[in-house]
Amino acid sequence: MSTNSTDPMKKISVAILGGSGYAGGELIRLLLNHPNVSLEAVTSRAYKGKFVYSAHPNLRGRTRLQFIDPHELSKYDLLFVALPNGVSMNTMSDLMKKASKIIDLGADFRLNSAQAFTDWYHMPHTAPKLMKEFIYGVIELHRSEIAKSNYVACGGCEATVSILSLYPLIKHSLIETKIIIDAKMSSSQAGLVPTLSSHHPERSGVVRSYMPTGHRHTAEIITEMTPYTSEPLDVAISATSLDMVRGILVTIHTTPRTGVSEKDIWRAYREEYENEPFIRIVKERSGLYRYPEPKILAGTNFCDIGFEMDTRSKRLVVIGAIDNLVKGTAGQAMQDMNCMFGFEETTGLEFLGLHPI
Ligand SMILES: NC(=O)c1ccc[n+]([C@@H]2O[C@H](COP(=O)([O-])OP(=O)(O)OC[C@H]3O[C@@H](n4cnc5c(N)ncnc54)[C@H](OP(=O)(O)O)[C@@H]3O)[C@@H](O)[C@H]2O)c1
Repeated sequence: MSTNSTDPMKKISVAILGGSGYAGGELIRLLLNHPNVSLEAVTSRAYKGKFVYSAHPNLRGRTRLQFIDPHELSKYDLLFVALPNGVSMNTMSDLMKKASKIIDLGADFRLNSAQAFTDWYHMPHTAPKLMKEFIYGVIELHRSEIAKSNYVACGGCEATVSILSLYPLIKHSLIETKIIIDAKMSSSQAGLVPTLSSHHPERSGVVRSYMPTGHRHTAEIITEMTPYTSEPLDVAISATSLDMVRGILVTIHTTPRTGVSEKDIWRAYREEYENEPFIRIVKERSGLYRYPEPKILAGTNFCDIGFEMDTRSKRLVVIGAIDNLVKGTAGQAMQDMNCMFGFEETTGLEFLGLHPI
């Protein structure tokens, strides 16, 4: 998908605040292969002075960059912010002086009201006036706004795959408004800092129901889907941790509106996504990979979406899968960057994944 025409040799200066984490590491991997990016600085307080490969061993031999302290950041064309939730809002007004454009991978600027942030994240928002400056980073819904914006807040990984799975169905008024999302989550979603629940004896082999109700990403899904319906949405998420390092699978239970056929569902997905480079409808009659599966998406920017109608129980079951660290955060951020700077939107995101893996 092409965006504005731009000088193919143009290079922008880029820095990452929070580069030793899992989202930051994935961003470094992607940015190092981008022909229009000069990655100039990556921060970590814990790894300050150490080579980037000391935190991200997959990058050994690819860069001689060393981590710097966040205070050593100077000025860049673009700053990626990959800090834990609730941190970037405290310094965002200062960060805005360090870069013409900012893409925040965290949750602080995803919602459009401070009250909603407090309700779901259980802390006050310290920069409520800046919330409106940010465009939500799910590009399939916000491409033209992102292209004109200086500030983007990437969607949460679980929200991103759910929104992409639901958007055509809600926009085309094909489903009732009660939506139940069963989300299977991987361990890298929790970030770098170990906890008891990530300790190997506790995590290995789990099928742990860790958030049957009250998942924070419910707020993003409702906020993003509400403009496409005149009825209030009733969205519920149940999240289960599985024994996998990367990937999310959502199985979404919905009720099709009376008279809606499988053809209508196909038509809605085709209409919204036929030109989307990273969305694939996966629904085969036979074979092993008949529906989306996160395993084969590892390292890719794809969001695979499938569905099945159950006429007996009057359900439409929608299945979505992504790599949480790519389409769910760093790849989404780079796709947004491409759009903001007028680069070809797929640049640096062409990896097709591995099979078998
Ligand atoms: N992991 C995922 O699958 C995923 C998916 C979607 C979105 N995200 C979002 O991406 C963001 C980062 O997630 P992550 O999983 O990469 O977290 P992480 O692995 O814990 O990494 C956090 C990074 O921030 C730095 N940091 C922490 N506190 C800081 C502070 N007070 N000041 C400056 N730097 C600080 C850390 O380095 P030092 O402490 O060494 O400075 C580290 O580089 C989060 O907001 C998360 O919501 C993550």
